[in-house]
Amino acid sequence: MQLKIGVIKGDGIGPEIVAEAIKVLRRIEQVYNHNITYESLLLGGASIDACGVPLTEETVFQAKKCDGVLMGSIGGDPNSSAWYQLEPDRRPEAGLLKMRKELNLFANLRPAFLYPALKNACPLREEIANQGFDMMIVRELTGGLYFGKRSTEVINGVLTAKDELIYQENEIRRIAIRAFEIARKRRGKVCSVDKVNVLDSSRLWRKIVTEVHSDYLDVVLEHMLVDNCAMQLVKNPADFDVILTENMFGDILSDEASMITGSIGMLPSASLNESKFGLYEPSGGSAPDIAGLGIANPIATILSAAMMLRYTFDLEQEAAAIETAITEVLKAGYRTIDIMSEEKIQVNTVQMGDEICKRIEKTYRMER
Ligand code: IPM
Ligand code: MG
Repeated sequence: MQLKIGVIKGDGIGPEIVAEAIKVLRRIEQVYNHNITYESLLLGGASIDACGVPLTEETVFQAKKCDGVLMGSIGGDPNSSAWYQLEPDRRPEAGLLKMRKELNLFANLRPAFLYPALKNACPLREEIANQGFDMMIVRELTGGLYFGKRSTEVINGVLTAKDELIYQENEIRRIAIRAFEIARKRRGKVCSVDKVNVLDSSRLWRKIVTEVHSDYLDVVLEHMLVDNCAMQLVKNPADFDVILTENMFGDILSDEASMITGSIGMLPSASLNESKFGLYEPSGGSAPDIAGLGIANPIATILSAAMMLRYTFDLEQEAAAIETAITEVLKAGYRTIDIMSEEKIQVNTVQMGDEICKRIEKTYRMER
């Protein structure tokens, strides 16, 4: 297969973790006989440094010509980076939000899975960790508070900030459909998360999700308030299958879900539009404090590349080969520092990528 992938290395640890994901993709290319071309694109801090803005028209144009885009994390330390002296709409994060909107990437999938080998890294009580968990957060990504009008002005002599939270029924409907479709291929459960006891947008959310459910009666639908969900995630994570939620709640809950997997460095994500196009990135940030040290965990980015093979290219076997390789590497005891525990073998970013590559060939040989 001939594939064209856009690559945004990003800021902080971004270039280091993306390099490992590309190494793994090159191995997949060789072993499974594909031909991938890589187009380098700029976004975030690197784009500000090179072009003065966090996202150029050129990047959007080039990204649209790719089948999918693989991205490292973007942004820097708000307390020390010059990027944060700029107006908010010229900062690195603004570039990412604009990219999501321009490419209509409304469906953000964030799987959170506890590898049996990483039970020790899970901060939850042993009896909870022992049950394991496997959930998929489906976060609406192009609406809500993130994209409403905002302002800070003096009203009646008082400095006042406003952020508008808008949801249209069609925006809720299309993400709900995605969540039900995904649940059908998993354990058939959707938990829709809102704040219906306070917000009008949540009342519309619940109404539309309930309507969409009538086409998916084989899937079990439950509604949950977001504050309760935050609690249930640490109390009983095994109960969740698909979590469907709006943009801001999804941002917060997905960080929580990632932390209980042992490290935010384990969690991939896919941001998809109506068709097969997707932007794939680790859920974690750019970790400027450890950038350049070669110790970052590349697994989230490598898993994001696997998601790209699955969702954009329909290459299920190749995606599964990467996932199996990662499971094997963890089973064999290799750990980057963020998931290190007693008696395990500590490796750096590059070594982790190498160990995963080695096991891809092994999986391939076993398949034959
Ligand atoms: C994420 C990030 C972004 C978000 C930031 C960088 C704007 O936290 O992808 O979860 O809030 O969506
Ligand atoms: Mg976030």
